[in-house]
Amino acid sequence: MIQHLDIPRPDDWHLHLRDGAMLQGILPETARDFARAIIMPNLVPPVVTAEQAAAYRDRILAALPEGADFQPLMTLYLTEDTDPADVAAAAASGLVKAVKLYPAGATTNSHSGVRNFDRVMPVLEKMAEIGLPLCTHGEVTTAEVDIFDREAVFIDTILDPLRRRLPGLRVVMEHITTEEGVAYAAEGGDNLGATITTHHLIINRNHILVGGIKPHYYCLPVAKREKHRLALRRAATSGNPRYFLGTDSAPHIDALKEHACGCAGCFTATNTMPLLAHIFEEEGALDRLSAFASENGPAFYRLPVNQARMQLVRQDAPTTFPEKIETGAGPVTVFNPGFPIHWSVKR
Ligand code: NCD
Ligand code: ZN
Repeated sequence: MIQHLDIPRPDDWHLHLRDGAMLQGILPETARDFARAIIMPNLVPPVVTAEQAAAYRDRILAALPEGADFQPLMTLYLTEDTDPADVAAAAASGLVKAVKLYPAGATTNSHSGVRNFDRVMPVLEKMAEIGLPLCTHGEVTTAEVDIFDREAVFIDTILDPLRRRLPGLRVVMEHITTEEGVAYAAEGGDNLGATITTHHLIINRNHILVGGIKPHYYCLPVAKREKHRLALRRAATSGNPRYFLGTDSAPHIDALKEHACGCAGCFTATNTMPLLAHIFEEEGALDRLSAFASENGPAFYRLPVNQARMQLVRQDAPTTFPEKIETGAGPVTVFNPGFPIHWSVKR
């Protein structure tokens, strides 16, 4: 049995860091294990301009613990008013690594998202020209589409037509949750990537709903049936360069998770790498954890693999993780997989 793994220091290609006291409290959880992360722009108000992204990056760097080895990779929130020239300048300066598409109303803080795609074509054409990826929250928001079907309908009615209209656009299907998402990403060619979260490899919709509602397992896109979870596990552990880790670690304070209208988001920054080692071991794919967590993402984003290394060790005693991270904004519950984990990151 393999007891030890040595991989390049991983990156997180989809992360929510928030701002202020929450940022201060949760940033060390990511910076401990990850060298870089694509930082989601869904603040209130959203990070729309290069100037706002530069200011947010400075606040993140200022919140880093002393001696941390972590680089935030900034994104811009696409609105119908986004200026193609501002995006191009932000990309050319190295500040911004992607633009994020939220269909209006899809998830937390997405009211400023896109309603009419014709209005964002000039920005998308510029992005295709300069090779800047579009990160997509791939769910339609139309009231008549069932929440469990929103990803598959997005692929058919928005993503595929958009990619046919603009084949040069580089797209990341973020946090895919269905076998349809897995299949579409597999056939997409070099301009298409897909991130997969840690929690979607572990939970299906029963975990959220059976035996009482579990608010800490509620996230968007919502976890689907077991067959979809199994498709995601096959994809993540396949070594296929289309798939890479984006935790979508999304902290909300407990008071807002355990609520009559609970916020969506699972907080997995603290224990993602041990959880992934557990999953890859179960799938007999420990030799492919590096591809998923450390190599495929940089290849898609045209960045070097990290020089620094991470060691993961397997021990007989279960690893203990904090139940909550106490932040100045309030406590945040750490994702609990519901089974013992025997892997830990060697410090
Ligand atoms: C995210 C958040 O809280 O910002 N929530 C989530 O469930 N993933 C938003 C998002 O990425 O959809
Ligand atoms: Zn997210």
